[in-house]
Amino acid sequence: MALRGTAGGPMDVAVYDSNCRVDKSFVSSMRRCEPELNHVVGFKICCRECWRGMRLQSSVIGIWISLLFGLCGHLVIWVAIYNRLHATAIRRSVKKTLEKWICGAVGCIGLFYVWLGIRPFLLNDPSSEIFISWDVLGDFIVSFYLIACWCAWGAVVIRWGVWRWTQRRPNSVRVTRLGLLCGAHECTREDEPTPEDERLIMERGDELRTARVQPDANAFPQSWFGDRWTERLAKIPGNQILRLEVNEKEFGIPDLAPNFRGLTIAHASDFHMTGQMTEAFYQHLVEQINKLECDLIALTGDLIDRPKCLPWLEAVFGRLVAPLGKYYVLGNHDCRIADEAMLRGMLKKAGLISPHGQWITVEHRNGQVLLAGNELPWYPGAHELSTPPRSVEGRDALKILLSHSPDQIHWAVDRGFDLMLAGHTHGGQIRPPVVGPIVSPSRFGPKYAGGEFQVGCTHLHVSRGVSGTHPLRFNCLPEITRIRLV
Ligand SMILES: [Fe+2]
Repeated sequence: MALRGTAGGPMDVAVYDSNCRVDKSFVSSMRRCEPELNHVVGFKICCRECWRGMRLQSSVIGIWISLLFGLCGHLVIWVAIYNRLHATAIRRSVKKTLEKWICGAVGCIGLFYVWLGIRPFLLNDPSSEIFISWDVLGDFIVSFYLIACWCAWGAVVIRWGVWRWTQRRPNSVRVTRLGLLCGAHECTREDEPTPEDERLIMERGDELRTARVQPDANAFPQSWFGDRWTERLAKIPGNQILRLEVNEKEFGIPDLAPNFRGLTIAHASDFHMTGQMTEAFYQHLVEQINKLECDLIALTGDLIDRPKCLPWLEAVFGRLVAPLGKYYVLGNHDCRIADEAMLRGMLKKAGLISPHGQWITVEHRNGQVLLAGNELPWYPGAHELSTPPRSVEGRDALKILLSHSPDQIHWAVDRGFDLMLAGHTHGGQIRPPVVGPIVSPSRFGPKYAGGEFQVGCTHLHVSRGVSGTHPLRFNCLPEITRIRLV
């Protein structure tokens, strides 16, 4: 039996039997406009006087699907708010409070939707209403928010589909994996399948998958862990926090002067020295960066979180070697070191140069590499960046911007940068297959979570970073990159 009804008339309700014939006895009973609810095929139908109970005009499955979409849209709304919140320079204490409110809203409203769905079964009364009527204001709020959730879910699905087609790697960029480390060692064949293994996994099922998600736990040196909790998390099967992908990415910069062809830049980001990992871990990273033997090194922020790690800065970054120098910008987590001047002083002692809010000119094969830094929105200064130095006029010059956040991409495009290097978003850290990155602290959401992009004439490389404050990464390898300009 199927139900149909509209609110077009007081009793505009019809009930059909299995042969699609109208059950006239039911219709006539409804025409008497009884105020009581009528039980029909397990649902409550009511007349117009109490039409708020009439929301059950579709099947239970339809309602569950709408609740499921509502739940998905609810998560989309709050993840979007979370991402935008972490793209701002709001004070950390305020951010943490808002974060708690967001978590509370996600949990409470999500549970409310789940409760609406299972309520008839909890009451052991499938005939019970799924939607409940509150007062007019309550009804309006619940209905409005549910519709907003549906819209959010629809919008994100459409946007995701569009991105899948449009956000492809630019043709001017070529990526080659130079190596993959599991802990201190090169990954073995068992740790990481080759493309041929991937094909076999597809053909044979899960037989080889077990080997893929459980790297050799002995490959993680004990001396890297700052505490037991981090060690336990790092050894969760599938957690990639202690792997390291080493890539070479060739960027085809339009009209690149011959002087700069072949120029290499080692790009690493988001070290997050918190103490969860020890200095030995960061020494290992520096060793890998030096092995790339690049012309210059760029570190794009979130170098340190805790003051207790300050003595490591010189010992770790002091070992980096590059003939054209090593450069850095600070990120939002570096703000946790209250004494900014002291932090910059220690980084200077480690041989790092800050191009923040200024042009640094580096001579290279009779041309000039112009480096600038942008630490907005966490450290002011980038707005004061002038036009390029006069000495550049009439000479070949290459403009490179270091920024912690990829949100500054349009700032870079407006100023004609050839290449922008950024971090901050950690590639999303947890990337469900097919779906991709979800949590990405950017005003663009997950659009620039990691990878290579071209906006206008500016190429953008967003590093997935090498570490994080939450030692969890799934389907999102930490990376260091050798960028080669061609
Ligand atoms: Fe970070």
